[in-house]
Amino acid sequence: MSGQGSTAGWIQVRAPATVSNVGPGFDCFGFAVDGLGDGVRARIVERPGVHLVDVQGDGGALPRGVQGNTASRAASSVWGVPALRDVGLELCVDKGLPLCSGLGSSAASAVAGAYAAMLLRCEVTGERHAEEAVLEAALDGEAIAAGSRHADNVAPCLLGGFVVVQSNAPLRVKRIEPALALHVALLTAELRVSTREARAMLPTQVPLHDAVATWSNAASVVAALCTGDVELLRAALCDRIVEPVRATLLPHHAACRQAALDAGALGFSISGSGPTLFALGLDAVSARTVADAMAGAARAVGVACQPHTTRLSLQGARRT
Ligand code: HSE
Repeated sequence: MSGQGSTAGWIQVRAPATVSNVGPGFDCFGFAVDGLGDGVRARIVERPGVHLVDVQGDGGALPRGVQGNTASRAASSVWGVPALRDVGLELCVDKGLPLCSGLGSSAASAVAGAYAAMLLRCEVTGERHAEEAVLEAALDGEAIAAGSRHADNVAPCLLGGFVVVQSNAPLRVKRIEPALALHVALLTAELRVSTREARAMLPTQVPLHDAVATWSNAASVVAALCTGDVELLRAALCDRIVEPVRATLLPHHAACRQAALDAGALGFSISGSGPTLFALGLDAVSARTVADAMAGAARAVGVACQPHTTRLSLQGARRT
């Protein structure tokens, strides 16, 4: 190897924001969205090990230690193979997503770190890109931020589309390309919700009738997406177990829900553990109308917020 420790140029990876849970699919549904995400640059260096050399866009809030940062923790899992014992990896993280916002920020960094590391690992070892290993590594990164290994953000972030997580261990996920073009209204309040805390507040037991309603709705959401059944999706995008509990953290939740549905949204819920709220529409104009209605409702109850419209993205993490 030659030069100042660098044997190759930088590569860049971008990983999208994700909406997880999607109503009745707590810990098992998620989809990727267009236009929002995190970036990672990576290069091979002589100094063995993984090195996090820069983090931008987080206001200094994220851990800088390799094992404490989701991107470098995930990259370390990919890099920890005997063939790379004498080769190093440098990473720079560019945070595009707000922290603790419910948009899969920690997952996007973890996926971008793992994906970039795998691209360079394949370059060095000649092996083929292993999607499952990237997912497992991204889960290692996600777990340090969220406090548990759940794939409902990392899987759609890597794969794009709408993803159903059947099991986290062993990891088994199914990607769906919906038969509907889904437009998404997002409303991110200027509040922070820690996923760890928002998980700790959830009940450990639920009434059977709520469980039945939830698994009926979850199965129906998948059926609606596969068949393009708009009215089934509208009826089924409802969660009676997690959303009512977490709504207590969001003073604007009830007003935004009403405003979104009155403005014609196809469905409404909390994105991940919040505070971002999302609603679905079938075209860009209706998503914009719904986003503006939600923003008006939030501001009317004194919650500062940022509306945004986008669409479900079929593309996940990619080299740029
Ligand atoms: N399914 C997770 C939750 C997503 O709602 O806690 C956030 O990481």
